[in-house]
Amino acid sequence: MDGIVIGGQREAIERALIPAEEIGARVRALGAQISADYAGSDAPLILVGILRGAVVFMADLIRAIERPTLTIDFIAVSSYGASTKSSGVVRIFKDLNESIEGANVILVEDIIDSGLTLIYLLDLLSRRNPASVRICSFLLKERPRDYPLPPIDYVGFNIPDEFVIGYGLDYAGRYRNLPYLGVLSLSPAE
Ligand code: IMP
Ligand code: MG
Repeated sequence: MDGIVIGGQREAIERALIPAEEIGARVRALGAQISADYAGSDAPLILVGILRGAVVFMADLIRAIERPTLTIDFIAVSSYGASTKSSGVVRIFKDLNESIEGANVILVEDIIDSGLTLIYLLDLLSRRNPASVRICSFLLKERPRDYPLPPIDYVGFNIPDEFVIGYGLDYAGRYRNLPYLGVLSLSPAE
């Protein structure tokens, strides 16, 4: 049997969903689009990464953006714990280091599932008087939601409603270092 057994549960990578090469090409395209979209604005551009899932995407994305004055900051939140379902409760573990007043902000997410983390953070950051706030999410899960999502300005990939890991995304803290995106399967260990 493939995978690893932790706490009586077998975790395995069921299949690869998006190969590393495809991710690289898409991230470069997003970077080019962002570079062009902000070329006409003199306001500072700050990319705000949501720890920890967005770290890998953020690292690749900023190197695909051409803008000498770009800066980055991070905010740390948790909505899941060691589970695969959103609790709807967002906790801030670490706030931004810098002010975003007067800046163009791009909030960088790993994945939008319920969208609750995003709705919460968008509201929080918008109240700090930035010039603008846009959202860039590596993944957007296609699933029903009985509330509207805010406009997602930049999306890497739309994916089916499955639990994915890799390229920064974790299950219980693991698998962030996979260079591709995979689907995780969980089963009782015999
Ligand atoms: P949301 O608030 O439900 O949109 O999801 C918030 C966070 O849950 C994301 O930023 C991810 O860290 C995590 N998450 C949601 N879906 C997945 C998944 O399929 N794999 C790994 N993490 C996920
Ligand atoms: Mg996570």
